Amino acid sequence: MRVHNRLPESVEAGAYCAVSEILANAAKHARASVVEVDAEALGGTLRVRVRDDGIGGADPVRGAGLVGLRDRIEALGGTFSVHSPVGCGTTVSCELPVMAGGGYPDADPAE
Ligand SMILES: Nc1ncnc2c1ncn2[C@@H]1O[C@H](COP(=O)(O)OP(=O)(O)OP(=O)(O)O)[C@@H](O)[C@H]1O
Ligand SMILES: [Mg+2]
Repeated sequence: MRVHNRLPESVEAGAYCAVSEILANAAKHARASVVEVDAEALGGTLRVRVRDDGIGGADPVRGAGLVGLRDRIEALGGTFSVHSPVGCGTTVSCELPVMAGGGYPDADPAE
């Protein structure tokens, strides 16, 4: 975990939602023995990655959770990806821009 300051509320809330849905998925579906959560805020971007060593094969079309999460992250100007080969665990990565001015896209980044 390499996040030393508070971030705009929208970014913190988006990251919280992402981690809670992904951890819920790991508990419900993955049959994992280890789940690792990593977060880093660097150069104006918050990167969050959750990785499990479970059964893999996560497929967003089979539920509403991952699709809803992608929408939420993209609405914040971020990116979202799922890497989940069958038998090789699941890694979900999100990148969120950390903007000055409370995270509103039209705020001046120099503020
Ligand atoms: N960590 C994971 N390991 C293995 N399979 C997963 C994992 N996460 C998700 N999946 C698979 O991908 C599907 C889609 O996940 P998603 O979160 O979108 O839906 P859900 O968890 O089934 O339902 P909900 O809408 O309540 O979130 C799941 O049904 C499950 O089959
Ligand atoms: Mg889910």
